[in-house]
This record gives sequence, structure tokens and C-alpha cells, in this order.
Amino acid sequence: ASTRIPLVAGNWKMNFDHLEATYFVQKLAWLLRDARFEYKRCEVALFPAFTALRSVQVLVESEKLNITYGAQSVSVTTQGAFTGDVSADMLTRLGCSYVIVGHSERRKYHPEDDANIVDQVRAVLAADMIPILCVGESYEERRQGIELDFAVSQVRDVTRDLSDEEAAKLIIAYEPVWAIGTGMVATPQSAQEAAKAIRDDLTGSFGAKVGNAVRILYGGSVTSGNAAQLIGEADVDGFLIGGASLDVDELAKIARLT
Ligand code: G3P
Repeated sequence: ASTRIPLVAGNWKMNFDHLEATYFVQKLAWLLRDARFEYKRCEVALFPAFTALRSVQVLVESEKLNITYGAQSVSVTTQGAFTGDVSADMLTRLGCSYVIVGHSERRKYHPEDDANIVDQVRAVLAADMIPILCVGESYEERRQGIELDFAVSQVRDVTRDLSDEEAAKLIIAYEPVWAIGTGMVATPQSAQEAAKAIRDDLTGSFGAKVGNAVRILYGGSVTSGNAAQLIGEADVDGFLIGGASLDVDELAKIARLT
């Protein structure tokens, strides 16, 4: 059996100001502490907007909450005249454990290409955080039947120059673009197929130790109605959740099922 600890990650995208985030975290902590929620098996992580990170940090640290958190993207430069950017070091100082890298919305609305994504991964690792690298095909690649090759090569393009130690730290989120925010969730079989293809390829490139260590999440229309089935798959190690992570009861429910 795998020793990978499942991760339930809530990507809030551009939702919740710092007050809403504070309220959410307090309620989530209360729900997860409740004896009926046996969430010992998984880790719960939140991804607020930059503006809410400090509020989340203060709450998590002062209350010693068993919740981790991170940012939704990061600058590839470390310091200086880069108006509007936030560095990896700044995020480490806010207590972030993770940074989402290469989300399809960032690839689409911002100039995030493979080279930039590689630099983000390096910046995140150098600042002692863990990158959650997002990959996944669009509807067009799925129609052509090339979805597995597509996702695998997206991972390969970003990881090819990493050392074994660096690669072992990664988390991969397989998020088929057609499933994001559409209510069309991948079947457990197809999530498993993609996760396994990615893991097998990592094993081929970096060896079995790395292949076994890397957590692979599924993302795309995850809800409490489909989470239990998806997590039953051998290579699915948790979820990256958008819409459903904005409902605190729903997120706590998913954590309980994971
Ligand atoms: O990063 C999570 C995401 O893109 C999935 O969004 O709303 O389909 O859960 P959603």
C-alpha cells in the first residue's frame, strides 16, 4: 500500500477577501475538529488570494490549526524592480507550504509557458516550498485520444532538468481543462489512467523511489458526490478543488471522505 498522505487542496482562485478567508478558516477548523470528522488520514490545504494569506497565517499560527496553505502562483524573480510581482521568499515568510504552478487559467490568461513554469518550480523549491504542478488536456486532445501523452509530456517538459531530490518533492495535479468548472468530472478510471501514466513516466525518468513519492492529485469538478470513488483509485492521492472549495461544509465533507 502507498504511504503517500492524501492531500485535499482548495484553490479559491479570485474569491474571498481577508475577512471572508478568516471566517472560512475558523469554520473549517471547527468542522474538522468535530469528532464526527475523522480527518486524520488526509492533509487539508487552502490556496487563498495573496491578499488573504497574512490573515490565514495569523489564524493558523495563533490557533495552531492543522491546516496548511499556499499561493496560486509566484514570480520567477527574487527581488527588485518587478511591479506587481510577489516573490517566493515573501511567500515562505507568510508560512506558505505550497505554490500552485502552471494552472490552466494561468497558462491561458497570463504569459505562463513551459520556460516560465520551470522557473517558477525552481523558485518555489529554492524557497523551501512545494510546487503543485498542474497539467491536463483540453477537450480537443481528448477528442483526438492523445490525452495521456499530452499530460505526460507536459510533466516531462517541466521536470526534465530537475534532480531526483527535487522531483521527489513535487506534487502533480492532473486537471483536464474540459472538467474545470464544468460539472463534467473525469471518471475514476480515466483519472486513474492519467495519474498512473504520469507516475509511470516519472518512475522511468527518476526511478521508483521518486515515482512512489510524488503525490498526484485529480482536479476538475470534484464534489462530495464523486470524491469517494475517485480517491479509491490507486494512483489518485487527493484533489485540487475549485468551486466546491468555496463551500466550507462541502470542503470538510470531501476531507472526511478522503
Ligand atoms: O484548481 C482547481 C480547479 O481548476 C478545478 O476547479 O471548480 O472544477 O473544481 P473546479
